Amino acid sequence: MTLDDCRLIELPKISDPRGNLTFVEGNHHIPFDIKRTYYLYDVPGGSVRGSHAHRNLHQFIIAMSGSFDVVLSDGISDHRFHLNRSYYGLYVCPMMWRTLDNFSSGAVCMVLASAPYEEEDYIRDHDQFLREVLAP
Ligand code: TYD
Repeated sequence: MTLDDCRLIELPKISDPRGNLTFVEGNHHIPFDIKRTYYLYDVPGGSVRGSHAHRNLHQFIIAMSGSFDVVLSDGISDHRFHLNRSYYGLYVCPMMWRTLDNFSSGAVCMVLASAPYEEEDYIRDHDQFLREVLAP
């Protein structure tokens, strides 16, 4: 999979004067089965999260409130995505180095993930990431 596979995906939005509604179905709106959900909140200004890659995990990142940036790198090029709406999100395929920054106050970052938490799936050292991703 490549950086081009990582893309913003717009979700269904049921507009209603009583309040809008959006939903996500795994293997339908996003290209994997959802096995875990987690969220970042109360993020102090200037914080940087992420700074790691996953060997096998697929993720879908949504700004449920406020805004933040996600920078993805495949080891050769990178791309900065700005997330600021709860009706779309960023699909992140495996073996992408990701950094989250530029959090607004009150930002809530929700992540849908394809597998339960598994520390062995993380690559936390950038040189190790480059060795694995650029290996022939
Ligand atoms: P980490 O994924 O490194 O955070 P981020 O990428 O947002 O900066 O996780 C931070 C800590 O939380 C780490 O000790 C692992 C733990 N954690 C879990 O126990 N379960 C989870 O599902 C997640 C995402 C993290």
